[in-house]
Amino acid sequence: MLRIGVVGAGGMGNVHTRHWKNMPDVELKFFELDPARAEAFASTHGLSPATSYDELLNWADAVDVCLPTDAHHSVTLKAIAAGRHVLCEKPMALNVAQCAEMLEAAEKAGVVLMPAQVVRYFPDFKKAHELVAGGAVGNPVTARTRRGGKAPVGSAGWFQDASRSGGVLLDLAVHDFDWLRWTLGEVRFVTSRSVRLTNPGALEGKPGDYALTTLEFESGAIAHVEATWLDPSGFRTTIEVCGDKGMIEFDSRKTPTVRRHTEENTQLESPMLPVDDPYYNQGRAFVETCTGAREAPVTALDGLRAVAIARAAIESCQTLQTVSPSRS
Ligand SMILES: NC(=O)c1ccc[n+]([C@@H]2O[C@H](COP(=O)([O-])OP(=O)(O)OC[C@H]3O[C@@H](n4cnc5c(N)ncnc54)[C@H](O)[C@@H]3O)[C@@H](O)[C@H]2O)c1
Repeated sequence: MLRIGVVGAGGMGNVHTRHWKNMPDVELKFFELDPARAEAFASTHGLSPATSYDELLNWADAVDVCLPTDAHHSVTLKAIAAGRHVLCEKPMALNVAQCAEMLEAAEKAGVVLMPAQVVRYFPDFKKAHELVAGGAVGNPVTARTRRGGKAPVGSAGWFQDASRSGGVLLDLAVHDFDWLRWTLGEVRFVTSRSVRLTNPGALEGKPGDYALTTLEFESGAIAHVEATWLDPSGFRTTIEVCGDKGMIEFDSRKTPTVRRHTEENTQLESPMLPVDDPYYNQGRAFVETCTGAREAPVTALDGLRAVAIARAAIESCQTLQTVSPSRS
């Protein structure tokens, strides 16, 4: 039995907890700062809250950090100092220096630190990776990804505060930066432009941003990555990878599935079993890594490298230069 303490009872705390509850070898508690959110979460999931983070740490074997990104570094370091394993939502932290500190602390303490780069567990992205790795397109030379929808808000509006979320490149594009690095190898150069960062004042007083990033890989492959928080039509992801023997493509709007459209949103209602769910599979990978049943499928170094690419993209938007991601 693994005792998991969920920290943060917002959007991702709820998603993760739904899946933890389907695992018979997991016991759960949670801690949430906001009393109203804590109460709602307790009643939704039938769990009693810890009254402090220290109380949660005393009880838990592992901590699931589902907090706004600016809190990942300090809360993770405290868990590691207490000898607890950590699953940390993406992006692993706000910058490379914070990620490096977390990685080193986990290695020193001998605990698992797994960044929740959940796109690796999405069935279509996993299959696309396996196809490219298995030679289905031959030598991959170009890739295009697109991800985004409306601007997220989050508790106290933290997503739209770049000092807390890192903006669209760190919060959103980090998914594709990780997937592309996993699939095509290390990135040498990053060139990026964003409406908000490249043209200060362009979105004054409005939420959202759009960024277009070019990645040049050590292999010679080139990818361009679109990330948007300015698309009112709802969430969408696409992938395209071309090689000398063929091409694969995926578009989340074209995948056969059942869609439900309402005034508020569009929901995919495909009949996915809990065991097919990427968040469930990410949770299983974490539990099995903590119990020594497998190697971590996504490492803290993977989390750091994805943040390094995002940070290079942000710097490129601001300086109009091409930037090499930090390799520390
Ligand atoms: N993988 C994905 O698909 C995905 C999707 C959305 C968000 N995220 C990531 O998940 C993380 C959390 O995002 P979210 O959407 O759940 O945010 P959220 O704002 O919905 O939830 C955060 C919760 O943490 C609570 N909180 C803040 N500081 C706290 C503290 N020190 N101790 C205890 N509780 C605290 C807030 O009150 C809030 O309830 C972010 O890093 C975000 O980038 C990942």
